[in-house]
Amino acid sequence: MNEVPLSVKSAYLDDEIIHSIRMKLYHSSGPGYVVFRQFIPSEYSRHIFDYWTKYVVPEKSHQQFISRELLRPGNPNFYSQSPNGSKSFYNPFWNAPPDEVTHEVCLKIVHLRNQIESRPSFSEIFPIPGGRCVIPRIVITKTGKNILVPHSDYGLDEPKPENIDLRRTQATLFLSKYGKDYSGSGFIFNTNQREKVQLEKELNLDPGDLVIWKYSNVHAIDSINVDDGQVGFVRILFPPEKICPSKKQFLGMKTRRLFSRVFNKLRRFAK
Ligand SMILES: [Fe+2]
Repeated sequence: MNEVPLSVKSAYLDDEIIHSIRMKLYHSSGPGYVVFRQFIPSEYSRHIFDYWTKYVVPEKSHQQFISRELLRPGNPNFYSQSPNGSKSFYNPFWNAPPDEVTHEVCLKIVHLRNQIESRPSFSEIFPIPGGRCVIPRIVITKTGKNILVPHSDYGLDEPKPENIDLRRTQATLFLSKYGKDYSGSGFIFNTNQREKVQLEKELNLDPGDLVIWKYSNVHAIDSINVDDGQVGFVRILFPPEKICPSKKQFLGMKTRRLFSRVFNKLRRFAK
């Protein structure tokens, strides 16, 4: 027998599983989040944690992140660093991966989320100028207060109606351990019943755990404390970033902005 009982359907999650995930996320009886314990095995999470906290040389593999306008196809990976040592790495799928394990895991998470949100598998993986594209972001947060003020995304209070999208979810792949690597509030999520949950602390999350949560629910990080010898709050996020226009359009936009600034100054001067 040269036949293998496999079809394209087997590449997708079972309908019943998807239904139970959606009930947890979207239904008023659900918490608004779903936990995938040990979504990646511990050797994967250890490798990803070590790579981004010890081995990466950002000056070699990334350029400095100055503005969101830089997020457009063909541009390199970016990183930013705060005076307190916090770092963020932006790794678009269109670039050669700095670390293949991270890239593979990120792609799988975006596929899973697309299925949950009932989008095609390829949705927001390839950059389309003017559209959105997921750019996985590795974040290492050090000591600070009011790191993420309470807010929601894509909810009914969005000022631009085109940004309202209640099926949107965010995914957080946790890579460090609360208590061992950092303390403080950690990530605070408001459930569908409007109860605050300090996710890492109350759910006893471990590195490798994935949480998918409803983007339009209020979320915040009040404080992170990192003592000597601790690495910080390390995780990967999957924001669907607005992709800027092409280089030609971008330069045109910049030139128009410059001309209008000069014109306004001259007008003020002439008064
Ligand atoms: Fe947010």
